[in-house]
Amino acid sequence: MKTTVWTLQEEVGRELPEIKEAARFLREGKLVAFPTETVYGLGADARSDQAVERIFQAKGRPSDNPLIVHISEIAQLEGLIADFPAKASELAALYWPGPLTMVLPVKAGAVSPLVTAGLSTVAVRMPDHPAALALIQEAGCPVAAPSANLSGRPSPTTARHVLEDLEGKIDGVLDGGPCGVGLESTVVEWSGDVLHILRPGGITQEQLSRHADQVLNAANLTARERKVQEQPRSPGMKYTHYAPRGKLVIVKGESQAEVIDYIQAQLDQAKKQGETTGVLTFQSDSRAFRADLVEACGTEGDLSLAASRLYGCLRSFDDLGVTRIWAESCTESGIGFALMNRLRKAAGDRIVEI
Ligand code: TXA
Ligand code: MG
Repeated sequence: MKTTVWTLQEEVGRELPEIKEAARFLREGKLVAFPTETVYGLGADARSDQAVERIFQAKGRPSDNPLIVHISEIAQLEGLIADFPAKASELAALYWPGPLTMVLPVKAGAVSPLVTAGLSTVAVRMPDHPAALALIQEAGCPVAAPSANLSGRPSPTTARHVLEDLEGKIDGVLDGGPCGVGLESTVVEWSGDVLHILRPGGITQEQLSRHADQVLNAANLTARERKVQEQPRSPGMKYTHYAPRGKLVIVKGESQAEVIDYIQAQLDQAKKQGETTGVLTFQSDSRAFRADLVEACGTEGDLSLAASRLYGCLRSFDDLGVTRIWAESCTESGIGFALMNRLRKAAGDRIVEI
């Protein structure tokens, strides 16, 4: 299959021929990747079993992991969900369009059962990106879209990342340049007055705490607490994600100097054993390390920048065939919480505390 690439200029609207053609593809049941403010999504008409089935095939995604449905205006909720509680409506007014996904009761027959993986709920969000909004409007349908990567790989933050994973497997990609946030949306669900964060992301726990008496972060649960829950509330969280091909280890310590020394010793030893080595650092000065590839992801002072670069950095290790990677850790507040959540998953929970 030929994958069409549409390159977008600054001014994007429904009337652009590129948007019109991409929207027609969606209406025809084809797969179109598109930029959002978080990561690139792989879109299909959420109502079509066949189109949605193709998403799972192209990504190699397990069928029990439901998809997020993307909308361009609040009025679309009417046809999608059975109930829109006042608290959810308040969050939508504040954060949509934006990196917040809400799990809501699905209206029977509104979307393909493949989208919800048979659950009675549907995850919905309105992306804050002009190309995404124009595409959804012009397509005239709710758009199911997971991140546009092969399952298990880091999510794509550029059209090039999408093509690396999916060229020849999807019908088209709208290239709108690099994504701003760089990490996926925050997924939340209300249960009574308690707001559960099922996946940390672009909207932080600190922000959400202003709008709920209690915010529970599933990502903070201990392994035992997680077991007590009959099933993970967000099925996607149980899969390994975002992983580079090389073995990644996170190093934590009180003293930065000790962390650097420890990592350097590990790098030197691995190098002697013939490994290709890499470091992911949050220092401004990447010369602190000797390795085959030093990726300076961003600094503690600007964790938003670090978040926007994380997946690109992880992919760079793969591009160079790096086999062993050590990563520093960053402060887990604000967007740093989602950043460390993804880094920990990329490391398969391998963390060394020195
Ligand atoms: O930023 C994002 O959210 C990106 C862009 C493309 O919008 N999309 C994205 O989709 O990250 P995906 O499929 O990679 O992740 C969707 C997450 C998974 O963890 C999934 O389990 C969860 O949302 N999810 C979807 N439907 C759900 C539901 N009904 N109940 C609970 N969790 C759900
Ligand atoms: Mg994903």
